[in-house]
Amino acid sequence: MPGQIPEETIEQIRKSNDIVDIVGEYIQLKKQGRNYFGLCPFHGEKTPSFSVAQDKQIFHCFGCGKGGNVVTFIMEIEGYSFYQAITYLAEKSGQELPEQIQQKNEHHSSEHQDVLKAYEWLTKLYHHLLRHTKEGKEGYHYLLDRGFTDEIIDAFQLGFSPKSKDFVVQFLENKGFHRQTMVKAGVLTANEENDVTDRFRGRVMFPIRNHTGKCVGFGGRTITDQQPKYLNSPETELFQKGKLLYNFDLARPQIRAKSEAVLFEGYMDVISAYQAGVTNGLATLGTSITESQAKLIKRYVDTIIICYDSDQAGIQASHKAAKLLKKVGCTVKVANMQHGMDPDDYIREYGADRFKKEVIDLSDPYMTFLMKYIRKDFNLNLEGDRIQYVENVLDELAQIDKPVEREHYLKELANDFDLSWQTLAQEISTRRQKVGVQQDKPKQTSHTNIITKPVKTKKLLPAYHNAERQLIAYMLTDVTIADKVKEELGGAFNVDEHKVIVTYLYAFYEEGHESNISQFIEFLPDHATKELVVQIGMIPIHDDITSQEINDYIRTIYLEQSDKVKINQLKAKQKEAERQNDPVKAAQIGMEILEIQRQLKNSNH
Ligand code: CTP
Ligand code: MN
Repeated sequence: MPGQIPEETIEQIRKSNDIVDIVGEYIQLKKQGRNYFGLCPFHGEKTPSFSVAQDKQIFHCFGCGKGGNVVTFIMEIEGYSFYQAITYLAEKSGQELPEQIQQKNEHHSSEHQDVLKAYEWLTKLYHHLLRHTKEGKEGYHYLLDRGFTDEIIDAFQLGFSPKSKDFVVQFLENKGFHRQTMVKAGVLTANEENDVTDRFRGRVMFPIRNHTGKCVGFGGRTITDQQPKYLNSPETELFQKGKLLYNFDLARPQIRAKSEAVLFEGYMDVISAYQAGVTNGLATLGTSITESQAKLIKRYVDTIIICYDSDQAGIQASHKAAKLLKKVGCTVKVANMQHGMDPDDYIREYGADRFKKEVIDLSDPYMTFLMKYIRKDFNLNLEGDRIQYVENVLDELAQIDKPVEREHYLKELANDFDLSWQTLAQEISTRRQKVGVQQDKPKQTSHTNIITKPVKTKKLLPAYHNAERQLIAYMLTDVTIADKVKEELGGAFNVDEHKVIVTYLYAFYEEGHESNISQFIEFLPDHATKELVVQIGMIPIHDDITSQEINDYIRTIYLEQSDKVKINQLKAKQKEAERQNDPVKAAQIGMEILEIQRQLKNSNH
């Protein structure tokens, strides 16, 4: 139970953060009936078994069993403590937390908090210098010359680091930050003699925010010919280039709205494209895309358009990125740009409109891009090259999992080279067998077509067990049913876990709470019980349950209970008989026990 935070505050925060919205920021959810479904972010899966109940404000994964409310979700996915999750959600919905909680929170990982605070200050400082001071003028004009507007400079909080050895050192010191912490976190640098100096000098500054919108590092571009052209903050626990995606926080809603993301090579391109109206852009930070970034993208969106430089290196990189994104299951497209340009060059040369219409909208599907890519190496006027080219394309086609997609390109290839379609299909099939990919199966359940399915074939539960689950499901949503059960059955549930749940539930209602599963689980003592409650909470119930049906459940539970009591008594008698050396009597009693157990078994099926 959360000690210091008042219950009403927590409830308030939970109420203003709808679980569908919050979960929707991490995975794609599709509505199916009353609930939402998606791919579970906590375990790898191809068909969705993760569900969110908006009416109950809970989530549950039928695959891995994880479940909870919006707070638990944030704790799990961000690795936050309860306090951090509450603070995060409060901030998100624009709520103030009582002061003592803020302190408690800061206590948690005070170094991280310090670094984040320092970066927040520095973002403001650099931006202010660029926009409003003599020291930053050069940087400001550099950006204006590159075509950036004031609005975009403000939106991305672009700044300028003064050409001074220790401007930032002094600034942070005055704010009370600890020098060594700042050095350790890469905010400042120290040489061998332990002189602490500013890391960035005379550079245009790009704050790099993580997916929650917090600045965790900087990129600085020279405006003269200083080397390197781009300087970044060093890798730290907070700033891991292989895990971050530039502009993810701003782009996320746009990505969701468009069901599409655009991947760029760097911040310049993202910002330039943003100004041109392509607001769903992301970028890696000067490194090739990693599997963890690819998976992160896939969690939010199916379709990704790669829009890298169109020079040799850029095309090479597009190829690599395309393969990786395809591998994690994305639908990949590759933007079509004139040779040698990067997106920012293109926009400046041809304008926003052409960029959108001719580069982004006309991007090539994955296979088209690959075919073009492979073609570069061959002279298709030569017979030998033509065969080689077709062989190479077939290798690629064989790796495509969707039969429809394969067939489409197969036909194209057959047409282009005047080859028999059947021969090519045979070639593909041989290749697929060789690498051991699964042969085509009957159509699988697709993402949009979810059927409720038991993920693990669990053993059938005995009737009393089911009755208890059903009954608790009703008790969780209806106080009057809970009251009735309390009167007639009390804590006499047969499954120990259920006993625990109802005990807590009675107490919860006694304290005057309304039925509210999402709130109730905060009151439970341990993780396993919470997950069980959520699991039961997801059982579909009828709004018009009759008291007859409730009574049936109660009776089923009760009968089991009394049989158990009977058996226990008999077992005691049996022991007594054994002690009195009366094996015949003991055996008779044993038969009786067996008979009851047999009846029980029969009535359960
Ligand atoms: N980058 C980086 N660190 C480097 C080099 C590059 O972070 N040492 C990133 C930057 O985000 C940069 C991107 O990689 O925007 C691509 O680099 P490059 O093509 O060299 O720069 P441009 O984006 O074209 O930048 P500009 O137009 O300012 O030259
Ligand atoms: Mn450029």
